[in-house]
Amino acid sequence: MKIHKLEKIILIIGGVTLFFFLSVLFLQNFMLGSHHSTAIETVDPKKIDKTAPFNKPGLKKVSGKEWDYELVIVASVFQYAPSEVEIPVGAKVKIIATPKDVIHGLEVVGTNINLMLEPGLVTEKVATFRKKGKYLVLCNEYCGNGHHYMSGIFKVVDA
Ligand code: CUA
Repeated sequence: MKIHKLEKIILIIGGVTLFFFLSVLFLQNFMLGSHHSTAIETVDPKKIDKTAPFNKPGLKKVSGKEWDYELVIVASVFQYAPSEVEIPVGAKVKIIATPKDVIHGLEVVGTNINLMLEPGLVTEKVATFRKKGKYLVLCNEYCGNGHHYMSGIFKVVDA
């Protein structure tokens, strides 16, 4: 088989590029130990309703921690519990979330909060809302035929 010179060059460039990016992925995974950054703890998704803190979702004031409040959220088809939360403006809030059934997302529109909630994993993120107002919470992982109805509201109010 005769391969045109230009074709050969393109094949070589393609091969080298592929090798380079695979090497980067390999190094990230095995040398730098990159992994799921937000999900640390595990939980039994079938026992969410009986497992603290998910048996009492909502916002709680805490003391002696690096954050002022903990916001526990349970996602399920096709809702968040709680679906509406009032958050004091400027407070440091640790979001602690997990789903009951399938993978859901938790994106707070207009912020950098964009979490993936996987069954069995607890996803956490510390955030501060500096502007008062209503923030839409959206599921951005397809979770079934009601996915596009799945939303919530964070109301950031005076402390
Ligand atoms: Cu929950 Cu999409």
